[in-house]
Amino acid sequence: MKVFINKIIPAIGYRMLEEAGVEYTVWKEKPILDRGQAIQFCKGHDAFLSAGQAGLDADFFDQCRHLKVVALHSVGFDGVDVAAATRRGIPVGNTPNVLNKATAETALLLMLTVARRALFHHKKIKKGQWGISQPTEGLGIDLAGKTLGIVGLGRIGAELARICTQSWDMNILYHNRGVNPEAEREFGAKRVSLDELLAQSDVVSVHTALTEDTRGMFGMEQFKKMKSSALFINTSRGGVHNEDELTQALRDGIIWGAGIDVTNPEPMHPDNPLLDMDNAVVFPHIGSATKETRDAMTRCAVENIIAGLQGKELPYPVNPEVYKGLLGKSNKI
Ligand code: DGY
Repeated sequence: MKVFINKIIPAIGYRMLEEAGVEYTVWKEKPILDRGQAIQFCKGHDAFLSAGQAGLDADFFDQCRHLKVVALHSVGFDGVDVAAATRRGIPVGNTPNVLNKATAETALLLMLTVARRALFHHKKIKKGQWGISQPTEGLGIDLAGKTLGIVGLGRIGAELARICTQSWDMNILYHNRGVNPEAEREFGAKRVSLDELLAQSDVVSVHTALTEDTRGMFGMEQFKKMKSSALFINTSRGGVHNEDELTQALRDGIIWGAGIDVTNPEPMHPDNPLLDMDNAVVFPHIGSATKETRDAMTRCAVENIIAGLQGKELPYPVNPEVYKGLLGKSNKI
């Protein structure tokens, strides 16, 4: 049994595969593989461990219908046509839960960096402008006691709410399709309409998955509904906000600041005006990028690979419906 791994993963992953007697091929070069090359590699393997491979669409699953499992090295699966995989009997796995804290901390880091204008001050030192000469200059804003509006309050949003209520006594509003009773109990979170959340929040933090419903959910219309003193934070997917309109909203002072860990497209072009703006902070999608979290994600992904190759149910499936009557049969439509 052989797995193709499209990027270098933490060492724990290779050890687990060796212990399970699974052979592996790793693409270690840069640039990263394009879709066609990934398909060619997959054709010679029984399983695919995919770290951010674009284009896992119906055609991919058509060409790779022999795969016994596709394990994503991410919790998000917006780049995968899961229904197409299911139709071909291919289980797809992800890495849920283990990156909740790291991603919530990234949102927090963005909130603090924007609120205290940290990059602006850093850049001033580089320009030879150390220090603030007047007590009224270069001021940030407090977060304590303010209102945090979480759009998509799931497991990552709950981690953020926990830190913000415990450390800064922030009030939590949230906008979800359904009620989150645990969050209401634990953080006193209040479920409101999106418009109400936008109007009342001092910080709006986005944690929703990218779907056809959430694509482009934040544009000028929504920024105009926010307080002019508010911060917009996005650690989910760049497709959820309209980047040009975000830039315009920051330029025109429609909102006070923004911190994004996700861009559209990724990578962001180095000439992007957001990178030169004093009220914007951009990270290169580092939400889960800590040693501990990446190790944990690798464990999940490799557990999915091993289970899939052994014909067992994946421990972290995104399409558990694939098992309805399919386990043990061949991967044919
Ligand atoms: C995820 O796991 O989906 C994170 O965004 C990292 O890619």
